[in-house]
Amino acid sequence: MKQAVSMAMAAGLVLTSAMAQGEVKKDSWGKSADGQPLFLYTLHDAQLTVKLTNFGAHVVSIDAPDKNGNVADVVLGFKDVAGYENPKNTSYMGAIVGRYGNRIANGRFSLDGKSYEIPTNNNGNALHGGKVGFDQKVWQGKELPNGVEFTLVSPDGDMGFPGKLTAHVKYTLVGSSLHIDYTATTDKDTVVNLTNHSYFNLAGEGSGTVLDEQMMIAADATTPVNATLIPTGKLAPVAGTPFDFNKPHTIGERIHAADQQLKTAGGYDHNFVLSAKTNTLHLVAKAVDPKSGRTLTVTSTEPGVQFYSGNFLDGTLTGISGKAYVKNGGFCLETQHFPDSPNQPSFPSTELKPGETMHSSTVFTFSVTK
Ligand code: BGC
Repeated sequence: MKQAVSMAMAAGLVLTSAMAQGEVKKDSWGKSADGQPLFLYTLHDAQLTVKLTNFGAHVVSIDAPDKNGNVADVVLGFKDVAGYENPKNTSYMGAIVGRYGNRIANGRFSLDGKSYEIPTNNNGNALHGGKVGFDQKVWQGKELPNGVEFTLVSPDGDMGFPGKLTAHVKYTLVGSSLHIDYTATTDKDTVVNLTNHSYFNLAGEGSGTVLDEQMMIAADATTPVNATLIPTGKLAPVAGTPFDFNKPHTIGERIHAADQQLKTAGGYDHNFVLSAKTNTLHLVAKAVDPKSGRTLTVTSTEPGVQFYSGNFLDGTLTGISGKAYVKNGGFCLETQHFPDSPNQPSFPSTELKPGETMHSSTVFTFSVTK
């Protein structure tokens, strides 16, 4: 077994070193359950190797070096499409989630005086676009220099949402940064909130929990939630609470604190209101694995980020290299507009009208801290 793993690693190294910086490799990746051809795209630069698929526009793996140059895959993922299509996989691991990432209360909202209903899939609410979200769709992939652009046309009425929405998600690798640029247009008034749902474990996927990894989040408030994780509409200052990550803390340090919000969500699963009030790229978060030194810095144009500490992982999903994904085995930093915005008039609007283009960008930068 050990030998098989090291042979596979050696093969991986050969493949990587054979790729020129900036080159994009496209390999066949079987078919989706409904028979559509799937591809695995490999992007490579001096430091990182990133694999993406047109199934759900997922990030499948990100190989990144530690402070001694040892490479590990720092995102959770599956070895084949069956892992992503498995109905027991409700993790959204690495996916692009949409049309509306995060929750819409009771799956209902109204727009221009009309009511819409999204099939609910999470405690009576619609999560990540309803029963069949963008994560389960086969996107159209187009290779670019250093990247891939995925396109999905979501028809009018898809999961109950109004308007035909055309979404483009462009992944590009620039130096040690993975850029994700989103655009969307519609032919009727609609709502849209797209994000990437990668679970990071900077010590390497399947290597245990992230509770000892340090997190900094540039946010002064969160949007606290009710028992089904729907925002109450209030903003709660983080000062003096286990939600204050303005200075770095390990994820595990306060996760079991006597705090009602942490108890409700079984850990961190909250939208943080980012301190920078600009729609240009601003600092979101920085995470460090003190042992390996691997460091992730996140910047985004979005006003919020869902910091989710992998509370619902429970060891039943087996990852890309055969290891079980345990509770708290990865953290997500889902840059986004706030959850349930279509029902919360005080939150930044997620409405999109014909003739407008929704633009959003998020950058994941990898480095090492010595
Ligand atoms: C949600 C979690 C959910 C997870 C996977 C996160 O964005 O906030 O509550 O369990 O996605 O579905």
